[in-house]
Amino acid sequence: MAVQLPKSTRATSKEVDRRLDAAVAEQEQIFLDRQPRSRQLSERAVRVLAGGVTSSWQITRPQTVWISHGAGSKIYDVDGTEYVDMHGGYGAGLAGHAHPAIVEAVCRRVVRGTHFAQPTEDAIIVAEELRSRFGLPLWRFTNSGTEATMDAVHLMRAITGRDLIIKVEGCYHGHHDSVQVSVTPEADDIGPADRPVGAPASTGIPEAILALTKIASFNSVGSVRRLLEENPGQVAGMIIEPIMMNAGIILPVEGYLAGLKEVLHEHGALLAFDEVKTGLTVGPGGATVAYGTTPDIVCLAKAIGGGLVFGAVGGTQEVMSYVAKGIYNMVGTFNGNPLSVAAGRAMLEEIATEHAYEEIGALRARIDQALSDVIAEVGLPAHVVSVGAKGCVTFSTETVRDYREFLEIDDRYNHAHWLFQHNGGVFLPPWGKTEQWLISVQHDSSDIDRLLGNFGRFARAVTG
Ligand SMILES: Cc1ncc(COP(=O)(O)O)c(C=O)c1O
Repeated sequence: MAVQLPKSTRATSKEVDRRLDAAVAEQEQIFLDRQPRSRQLSERAVRVLAGGVTSSWQITRPQTVWISHGAGSKIYDVDGTEYVDMHGGYGAGLAGHAHPAIVEAVCRRVVRGTHFAQPTEDAIIVAEELRSRFGLPLWRFTNSGTEATMDAVHLMRAITGRDLIIKVEGCYHGHHDSVQVSVTPEADDIGPADRPVGAPASTGIPEAILALTKIASFNSVGSVRRLLEENPGQVAGMIIEPIMMNAGIILPVEGYLAGLKEVLHEHGALLAFDEVKTGLTVGPGGATVAYGTTPDIVCLAKAIGGGLVFGAVGGTQEVMSYVAKGIYNMVGTFNGNPLSVAAGRAMLEEIATEHAYEEIGALRARIDQALSDVIAEVGLPAHVVSVGAKGCVTFSTETVRDYREFLEIDDRYNHAHWLFQHNGGVFLPPWGKTEQWLISVQHDSSDIDRLLGNFGRFARAVTG
């Protein structure tokens, strides 16, 4: 992590408003002018794809960007423009694109059949790798992060015979009912800080399900203790992103994760880490190893598949005995499908190596230092937060510790930054302040040069 805060901001809020609005308007026009083919595809798409996309997370402002292909650290849109890809498919792209080890593993597998609904040997090798990285003995596979966290919640309920779960305000765990609560709630819907109110993240979530999910604050063991004491013998467990990564990047304070485990266990409840995003990206054994607290359950997805559809759930001997004995029925036609486990094996054995993490660490250090220098030089109210291959600029002079502080960030900075990067040939994840960039194993210094150049232009445009 690197945090460097400017001593003061130089512009008045009116000037800032004017500069931000002008920068966004100008950059959105440049964006649209460069992408006529994407516009045509969007116009055609809305006639057959609801909203013109295949997942609502694919919508970008001012217009959806349609991709032609990717190679190494780059992706290419349908208008032929090259981008350094630091979107990384929302954190799945640690391997970069068409990595030779993934291509070889997938090609070798695809000609020998891709689906049997019977296991292939690669599944054992992937599970052995995950066991040694995350320190949990037993694993099962899924097809997505959503499925992994859904199984984790079911498991916690199955084991304890209790219905309530605890979830942190502002954490995203996929789109199954139990966790579609207080994901990105508006300030008006969240209730007082010492007693957060659960707000549905979408329509279609029944009130009865909402009532089963209790909301805690990130970095507050006290808020979890309160919920456990107010609902004695009723809480099955807690699911949490150990580093919040759907609210920029919010790091756990020292002792927080260990404190959670202790208080939950005291009350007979379980702890599940959702490492779908953090998994392989913050280090070889995720936040679990980086912060030294092994939960009862770890959920993985995204990067472990090397770009293919893959998720995993790991658990202690006791937790997974409920699966092994068939007490909790963990199933799925495509779980552990041969293509995914072949790619996952290549990812773990050949790509996400110690050496790769060292190289990524060097690129991260360069980004952190260079961006912090620009921020200090122009007096931008911002600082850099990074961990492993992930990083973001948080547009606040203060360290953000929970969702409520995150809510106060002016998202126009993030959108303007995204546009400057995009028009300058770097594809960052859309959705403003919620997301982070990803450095893949195929990025190099010249890719970082482009990111830094764009950031300098953005920072000067919005500070004058
Ligand atoms: C922390 C976290 N958990 C779970 C999910 C859901 O994963 P998926 O989109 O593969 O269902 C996401 C997706 O962004 C995520 O960020």
